Amino acid sequence: MFHSRLRAAALLAGMLGAMVLAQAPARAAPAPNPEADRLAFQAYFRKNYPAVKNSDWGNGPYALNAGMRKQWEAIMQFPPYEFALAAGEKEFNRKFANGRSYADCFPNKGIGIRQNYPYFDTKTGEVVTLGIAINRCRVANGEKPLGYKKGLLAAIETYMAHTSRGKPFDIKVPNDPRALAAYEAGKKFFYSRRGQLNFSCASCHVQKAGHRLRGDILAPALGIMAAFPIYRSKWGEMGTIQWRFVGCNKQVRSVPFKPQSKIYRDLEYFLSYMSNGVPITGPGARP
Ligand code: HEC
Repeated sequence: MFHSRLRAAALLAGMLGAMVLAQAPARAAPAPNPEADRLAFQAYFRKNYPAVKNSDWGNGPYALNAGMRKQWEAIMQFPPYEFALAAGEKEFNRKFANGRSYADCFPNKGIGIRQNYPYFDTKTGEVVTLGIAINRCRVANGEKPLGYKKGLLAAIETYMAHTSRGKPFDIKVPNDPRALAAYEAGKKFFYSRRGQLNFSCASCHVQKAGHRLRGDILAPALGIMAAFPIYRSKWGEMGTIQWRFVGCNKQVRSVPFKPQSKIYRDLEYFLSYMSNGVPITGPGARP
């Protein structure tokens, strides 16, 4: 009795072991490979929209729609982000109470560096966006942190993007399991369906790029970070990437996350990496 039970248990354990072994190769997720992803991602867009030049991917809907592009060219004779640009430059050059300034917090004194954000901080193990870096700089120098959607933070980003125009995105995913996990989390978020409408980011900005949705032309996901921050007529002011994420989540009737929450930072990291090689066009203007 005892022996036969033991034998049955051993048999079962053996069977389970064999099943695990047999399934192991199929179950293991493929190792993350950001560079292979990026090449495939860019090849998709370049193949489907062969007329778009590399320098134009950062112009969002205007890259794909000639009518909108005409209107935009007219608007750009008096760019609506000029006020924010002037305010951002002034703030950027202001001295904090302790005599230091933003320039002291950034590589190259903060000029021409927007294309390197977000980056993965191997000390803290997290994705640092430009917005986060600006607020950390403020707090380290005794200033209050700013809101992440608009206002002064968007103005500072406006100025920093402007000094970086034409510089191609150069995002790094270091060979660190935490960086790869952040990248994968952003990627998963981008391709996951959500909300009552059950759309993923990719449903609109990959599969339907260039198509019309109500009054809008859907921007292609390639280069989709390059124009930020943007002056959006619907907002009536400058806004950040993170504000746009909130809007696009609400659009499919899903509950948005907080700006600069971990998942939105990972999402920005993934999307920026996908655009490596596409030049910064920001600050931008949108209907
Ligand atoms: C139901 C369709 C839809 C879905 C799903 C959607 N968006 Fe959008 N998105 C829009 C529309 C419409 C606009 C405004 C027109 C445009 O620029 O594409 C927009 C604009 C944007 C822009 C600004 C593009 C620019 O050049 O101004 C970004 C960035 C963006 N979306 C990111 C995302 C992300 C990230 C997700 C997933 C969380 C997402 N969107 C999901 C419809 C969608």
